Amino acid sequence: MLVVASLVVGGTLSGGVVASDSEEEIRARLKPFGDLCRVGQDCGGLEGGSGEAVSAPATAAAATGLSGQQIYDQFCFACHNTGVGEAPLFGSLEQWQPRIDQGMGQMLAVSLTGRGLMPPKGTCITCSDDEMRAAIQYMVDSAQ
Ligand code: HEC
Repeated sequence: MLVVASLVVGGTLSGGVVASDSEEEIRARLKPFGDLCRVGQDCGGLEGGSGEAVSAPATAAAATGLSGQQIYDQFCFACHNTGVGEAPLFGSLEQWQPRIDQGMGQMLAVSLTGRGLMPPKGTCITCSDDEMRAAIQYMVDSAQ
C-alpha cells in the first residue's frame, strides 16, 4: 500500500502540478485501502471480492521505511534542487543558514504544515515526523 501511495504522489509531482487539494484527492483514492478487513470478516466493498483478507496497512500513516536521502530524492528533490518558489536550495549554506538558526523544531513544524509553495510534508504524506526530520537533516547536512 505504501508503494501505491508513493506512486500516486510521484505522479502528481512529475506532472509538475501540486494542487492544493491533491492531498485530499490522494486520501480519497487511498480510502479503499484504509478500511480494515480482517480474516473472517465480510470484506464487502473491496473490489475483486475474492474473499481473501486484505492485510490493511495499520501503520500506513506511520512510516515509509525510507531514509532521509531516499525521501529527499523522491519527494523533495523536484523543488529543493531547483529552488522553485524560493525553496531553499540543496547544498546552499547561504539559503539554509537562517533556517538552521531557527532550529529543527521550527523547520519541522513548517514542513509538516507547509508554507507558501512548500506543500504539507513536502508531499510525502505517508512520512512520519521522524522521517521528515531525517529528510530535513539530510538537506541541512548537504549545506554544511
Ligand atoms: C512543491 C515544491 C516543494 C516540495 C516538493 C518540497 N518543498 Fe520544502 N520548500 C518549498 C518552498 C517553496 C519552501 C520555502 C517556503 C517559505 O519559506 O515560505 C520550502 C521550505 C522548506 C524548508 C524550510 C522551512 C523553514 O523553516 O524555513 C524545509 C525544512 C523543507 N522545505 C523541507 C522539505 C522536505 C523535507 C521536503 C520533502 C519531503 C520538501 N521540503 C519538499 C517547496 C517544496
